[in-house]
Amino acid sequence: MPDYPALAARIRALTEGEEDTVALMATLACEIHHSDARFDWTGFYRVVAPGLLKIGPYQGGHGCLVIPFERGVCGAAARTGRAQIVEDVEEFEGHIACSASTRAELVLPVWNGQGVLLGVLDIDSDQPGAFDEADAEALAAILAEVFGRAEPA
Ligand code: SME
Repeated sequence: MPDYPALAARIRALTEGEEDTVALMATLACEIHHSDARFDWTGFYRVVAPGLLKIGPYQGGHGCLVIPFERGVCGAAARTGRAQIVEDVEEFEGHIACSASTRAELVLPVWNGQGVLLGVLDIDSDQPGAFDEADAEALAAILAEVFGRAEPA
């Protein structure tokens, strides 16, 4: 588990006063990705049209470019507005395999301060069962703080 208080403090210092959504996403993707060796892919998918996600800033190997809300773990998080913790991607109906090595995923919805869904944060791990509620809660708090001041995409 990363040192979440330290991660949150670093992100706070780096992003203070910034409201540009892509600048915030790029900075968080980098900082979160390098905070824990379990994180093999870390990035954002952005809502670009009703029911449609498109790749945003990320770290790791290439990710698929387009994900409809009906598909995958990312689509489920966007559709339901709820965190998705997947311990074993093979058990998740409709999982989109961008990388064959991915075993576990954590996907969180991202809203701005007006409650507009900007996209999702997707973290993938090559280790099964890599993520738990504590990860989801700590990361959701960071997202709420940072994107609470973001302009709608
Ligand atoms: N596996 C995800 C798709 C995104 S990539 O893994 C980067 C999903 O099922 O939503």
